Amino acid sequence: MRVLVVGGSGFLGRELCRQGVAAGWSVVGTRLSGEIGVAGAEVRRLDVTDRAAVVALVAAVRPDAVVATPYRYGDWAVTADGAAHVAYAAARVGARLVHLSSDALHAGRMRAYADDDLPTPIFPYGAAKAAAETAVRAIDPQAVLVRTSLILGEGSRQIQLCRDALAGRTALFSDELRCPVDVGDLASAVLELVVADVAGPLNVAGPEAVSRAELGRLVARREGLDPAGLKTTTGTAAGVVRPSTVRLDSSRACGLLRTRLRGVSELLVPG
Ligand SMILES: NC(=O)c1ccc[n+]([C@@H]2O[C@H](COP(=O)([O-])OP(=O)(O)OC[C@H]3O[C@@H](n4cnc5c(N)ncnc54)[C@H](OP(=O)(O)O)[C@@H]3O)[C@@H](O)[C@H]2O)c1
Repeated sequence: MRVLVVGGSGFLGRELCRQGVAAGWSVVGTRLSGEIGVAGAEVRRLDVTDRAAVVALVAAVRPDAVVATPYRYGDWAVTADGAAHVAYAAARVGARLVHLSSDALHAGRMRAYADDDLPTPIFPYGAAKAAAETAVRAIDPQAVLVRTSLILGEGSRQIQLCRDALAGRTALFSDELRCPVDVGDLASAVLELVVADVAGPLNVAGPEAVSRAELGRLVARREGLDPAGLKTTTGTAAGVVRPSTVRLDSSRACGLLRTRLRGVSELLVPG
């Protein structure tokens, strides 16, 4: 299996490269400003906003499968147009496509979201991820769109945000619930999907919903920090428009995959 990890220098991308190499696959990862640093993975530089460059690179690499992870918060050309360019290039060489999507394309509600719930974005990042899905599905109806949530693990931005809030440098929302997932679990699930006969949107997230503030308290407990120092607020008080409660129902993925998607209380046990 020859797999191209677009965004191989990202948090998830590096883990995908690592696990792909460990599985004995031929792995090519792309980077833009960052580094991949995974022994055994070939590295190419790519800007996904450059459609011709994406087409040329995919044609040169000739992968059996492409995993598309790139996004840049607040940058439509990367998150939406870039995803379309990658899907187009993958389709031209007949490669299997696994596209990374997000829970951010939902508006938020108390009831859990099913795999096939249509996007209802309420802010620009969610709209860009929704547009990416629409483009990817139109170009390649066989592609799988992995809708995931906060990605945890060593080096996670989400965990760093919790540490910052525990140090009083920022505040965590108590009214924004998500279903965090471990980066290793997610990468393992994505690599299973590379060779699985699954198409369309698929929720791949942890089974437990927690607020960002609760996540901060779990990080405090795990790292022996004082949870009393945790700074919290609400989205309403902060005046931001973001999805509030977004629970992803990942039961279909759990039935399809061997990878077990662990919940936060298992991931963040006191250390
Ligand atoms: N992190 C989360 O909690 C979370 C939650 C839900 C969904 N997701 C989704 O999961 C995926 C992976 O997230 P992540 O946290 O691993 O992302 P990340 O660490 O921020 O990595 C983003 C990747 O995109 C690449 N990139 C950015 N602009 C690019 C461009 N113009 N051309 C080519 N590559 C470009 C970056 O390359 P360089 O670093 O080399 O510039 C990097 O490899 C994303 O699609 C995201 O929407 C993430």
